Amino acid sequence: MNTEERIPRHVALILDGNGRWAKKRGLPRTMGHKEGCKTVEKTVEIAARMGIEYLTVYGFSTENWKRSSEEVGALMQLFRYYMVRLLKIAKQNNVRVKMIGDRRRFDEDIIEGINRLERETKENTGLTFVIAVNYGARDEITRAVSRLAADCVQGRVKAEEITEDVLSSYLDTAGMPDPDLLIRTSGEIRLSNYLLWQLAYTEIYVTDCLWPDFNEEELKRAVVQYNKRERRFGGVK
Ligand code: IPE
Ligand code: IPE
Ligand code: MG
Repeated sequence: MNTEERIPRHVALILDGNGRWAKKRGLPRTMGHKEGCKTVEKTVEIAARMGIEYLTVYGFSTENWKRSSEEVGALMQLFRYYMVRLLKIAKQNNVRVKMIGDRRRFDEDIIEGINRLERETKENTGLTFVIAVNYGARDEITRAVSRLAADCVQGRVKAEEITEDVLSSYLDTAGMPDPDLLIRTSGEIRLSNYLLWQLAYTEIYVTDCLWPDFNEEELKRAVVQYNKRERRFGGVK
């Protein structure tokens, strides 16, 4: 990557392949998740250094509850542990942390941990690190429409005045720019219910690299690819 490359303002990430990474090594899937958490930590530091403004990672989807109770339980334990570490890393790197998704489904102590992370980092002015947990785009849009409908009934919003911006302001990502670049690791070419509204014109980059193996070089490779794309937003260039 040379110094002339444009740095995408907002990078969205689907971190996939923890299970396959573990399987390849004859390890339980949870070991892949543990390693994946370390990679998240490193990626936050790299993104902050590169001058990316927003990094949004998909940590746990509304569909991931379908996994075995052992795996879901292990993921919850990892959250508990990494939320504390993340607070330290965020403070060291001037990172503001925000969570999107429906946190109400988590245990009380996890909800408190999420609230604390947001509260104690909200004045930071560097990278905004967004974690999507119990996140599903259809769930997000449904919750948004439900609140919007309630506001219409209350007379706070008029139905004929609803614009794309109004609907956007009801989403969990209110106030954030749309992602410029989406990176998915592990080779799957699908969105898996991630940011369906926000990714309308995002450039998509898929790498075969399994998430625990993701590193600075991989991120830079994605940025180089992004720079080769011509973004048209429906127009003609
Ligand atoms: C991504 O890795 C992490 C989560 C979805 C929580 P996976 O657990 O999906 O790994 P694979 O896709 O089975 O390899
Ligand atoms: C997407 O990965 C969700 C997260 C990365 C949290 P999945 O592994 O759950 O997606 P599918 O099942 O391959 O579509
Ligand atoms: Mg997967």
